[in-house]
Amino acid sequence: MKALWKMVNDLTQAPESSESAPQGKILALMNQKGGVGKTTMAFNMAHALARTGKRVLCLDMDPQFNFSSLFGVNPTERPHIHHLLINSIKELKPLHTACLLDEVIVRTKTADGFSIDVIPAGQELSGFELTVAGINSPRQLILKKFIEKNNLRSMYDFIVIDGPPTLGLLVVNILCAVDGVLYPFVPDSFSQQGLKNIQQVLEDIREMEICPVPVNLGYIPNLFDSRRKQVREDLDKIGAELGSGRVFNPFTNRVQFTKSQAARKSVFDFETKDFKEIQDQFMTMAQTVQQELNQ
Ligand SMILES: Nc1ncnc2c1ncn2[C@@H]1O[C@H](COP(=O)(O)OP(=O)(O)OP(=O)(O)O)[C@@H](O)[C@H]1O
Ligand SMILES: [Mg+2]
Repeated sequence: MKALWKMVNDLTQAPESSESAPQGKILALMNQKGGVGKTTMAFNMAHALARTGKRVLCLDMDPQFNFSSLFGVNPTERPHIHHLLINSIKELKPLHTACLLDEVIVRTKTADGFSIDVIPAGQELSGFELTVAGINSPRQLILKKFIEKNNLRSMYDFIVIDGPPTLGLLVVNILCAVDGVLYPFVPDSFSQQGLKNIQQVLEDIREMEICPVPVNLGYIPNLFDSRRKQVREDLDKIGAELGSGRVFNPFTNRVQFTKSQAARKSVFDFETKDFKEIQDQFMTMAQTVQQELNQ
């Protein structure tokens, strides 16, 4: 009788909807200007989030593939995000070599045992815009749909995307796919112009009404001159010019970044005292991001 009741119960209970599965959050590091620290911040933020026990996927969306290289991945002879995206488009799939997510994801582990998965990028990604030029489905939503189709939000707590220093279709795809954006910038007018240009793209996305507009998680001032007395005043001025949004504590020019990147390690892989301050800065930013995105 008990078994019969169990069977009836099982048959009448609604299957668990994918809506109730835990939904990971997606953030991107963006600035149209090159060399402002997008990759550096993305790499160390991903490590900070992994250290808080979160399942983290790093997605490289820059054809320069610096983010992938920091994880020791050389994408020149292996499939990468470009192939996955092209394969996710019905009209293009038959024209290209098949490519599965499992063949592309790289599983990495830090020296002290924290796991981070990586979807690398590669040079072919620079031809993405041209490759998808003729398709009928919305070209702005290719990345968003790829993430949905592969259930990546249920596999990870955070997906960290490193953006390219451009403003084209790759950037639009990133902005349409993410929940929030962190904006690294350096104290020069070109870098701030790069941010304003991204804000214009966000405005265009808002007007198109094709997807929710990502939240501004904050501006990350980088390569600031610590000797200048008025750093905070400079930052407030820049913050006011950029409009509303949190401005994090600035990073100064630190040899620790050069040293850790040369070793393809995060700042958390070093135990010496001189790394403590930047480790704390990244942990604070990681906590803020978690709170902002309710994760
Ligand atoms: N605070 C810092 N102190 C010292 N070096 C830094 C700092 N921030 C970034 N760098 C160095 O500056 C260079 C550019 O940084 P990074 O590659 O992160 O910029 P990016 O915005 O990703 O550039 P691109 O737009 O070309 O992808 C790197 O060599 C990095 O190690
Ligand atoms: Mg970069």
